[in-house]
Amino acid sequence: MDLSPIGGSFTCCGVPANQRGVVVGHMRGVRGGRRRRWRQRQVNGCCCSWAMDEGSRMWMVTCTAPVNIAVIKYWGKRDEELILPINSSLSVTLHQDQLKSTTTVAASRDFKEDRIWLNGKEENINHPRLQTCLREIRRLARKRRTSGDGNSNTLSLHHKVHICSVNNFPTAAGLASSAAGYACLVYALAKLHGLEGELSEIARQGSGSACRSMYGGFVQWMMGVKEDGSDSIAQQIEPETHWSELRVLILVVSAEQKPIGSTAGMQTSVKTSPLLKYRTEIVPERMKEMIDAIKRQDFETFGQLTMKDSNQFHATCLDTFPPIIYLNDISKRIINLVHRYNSHFGETRVAYTFDAGPNAVIYIREQHVDEFVEVVKHYFPPEENGEHLVFFPRFLKGLPVNSVSVSEHLKSSIQMDSIKSGIQYIINTQVGPGPQLIQDANLHLLGENGFPKQ
Ligand code: DP6
Repeated sequence: MDLSPIGGSFTCCGVPANQRGVVVGHMRGVRGGRRRRWRQRQVNGCCCSWAMDEGSRMWMVTCTAPVNIAVIKYWGKRDEELILPINSSLSVTLHQDQLKSTTTVAASRDFKEDRIWLNGKEENINHPRLQTCLREIRRLARKRRTSGDGNSNTLSLHHKVHICSVNNFPTAAGLASSAAGYACLVYALAKLHGLEGELSEIARQGSGSACRSMYGGFVQWMMGVKEDGSDSIAQQIEPETHWSELRVLILVVSAEQKPIGSTAGMQTSVKTSPLLKYRTEIVPERMKEMIDAIKRQDFETFGQLTMKDSNQFHATCLDTFPPIIYLNDISKRIINLVHRYNSHFGETRVAYTFDAGPNAVIYIREQHVDEFVEVVKHYFPPEENGEHLVFFPRFLKGLPVNSVSVSEHLKSSIQMDSIKSGIQYIINTQVGPGPQLIQDANLHLLGENGFPKQ
């Protein structure tokens, strides 16, 4: 294998470097206590910049992946190890301009062991789900290499990897952080090994909902029937461009970690909830209706099904023994507000859904965003002064929202008491694309020495 910076023959992200490589920079780095010469090359159209020295070779890739929010929920596994669900589910991928995981993976023969840093802290790489993802990617790379199939590059499968990942949103606050995190990890590892194609089966084994974050737009996770899980994969129903007026508001009620994680919660539900068994019977029909509503951009049906499915999921949680309660008083007030708002207009203009936490995710069309946000501000006024503001200086984040006035008529239909600082902040976002490669080598989270930059 020729790793010389010019005229090298290794393939990277599927394209031989000698067909398109350009040296974009030379850097000096300190490694192993002595100053050594590093070169970094960005390969056109691909993320794989790499640094090298005589004897030291490092491959590095940085990717981002999105959060997805289910409108038909996944809750319950039929196989804990392979993460196979008891029902199919469907989600909307959120735009990475507002919410994303970023992951850098580096491989080098100088690394002694696989290591991972999450949100600035080193974590145990031996976590079984992490190990599964690493093993499955290496297995796939080996398979493709043996069969001479695909674009698997020449990176040695014996090289250890360093992984560094950050989220730009609160981890484990019911905002599907594990989905974005595992999707990003699997995508980045795949790019590192030059693997293309179907990867949702591997992401699923990191966290079930992660398989849906492997695609943009509107995505279904088909439960599958095979025992080995090979047909339990995600599939895009429509791309992010399909329903351009759709907006998503995240009402952050609490950024604290949830009391019972999804994995443990759904295990207890499978064991104890009769309602969950009933749910598996009705989801197939609901999936069909939802797909149809999305394809027709029928917000009335989409919104109603979304709310009904969220309610049934939380009813299942309450039907679990001992019960699991993710919604708090503010969540319930938001549910009330949405129903009163919709009934004032005699149509479904706004739809809520809640995952394993109290934060509300609101689906809404662009033309109603300004007014609804104003209504939320009226009933959940942000704290004007005080400590609170130090942590959350902006109540509105993401896409711009205009200030409008709310009619007295609407207020009198809603008739609710207002609760100061019940909602910490709102993120206004939209439907977005799937995982992305980061072309700019300056954005790697790992430095030239293969360790986190800060
Ligand atoms: C309520 O994917 O986090 O968000 O597969 O055990 O990792 P594991 O669970 P996870 O569960 C997500 C559950 C949910 C609903 C959904 O996203 O469909």
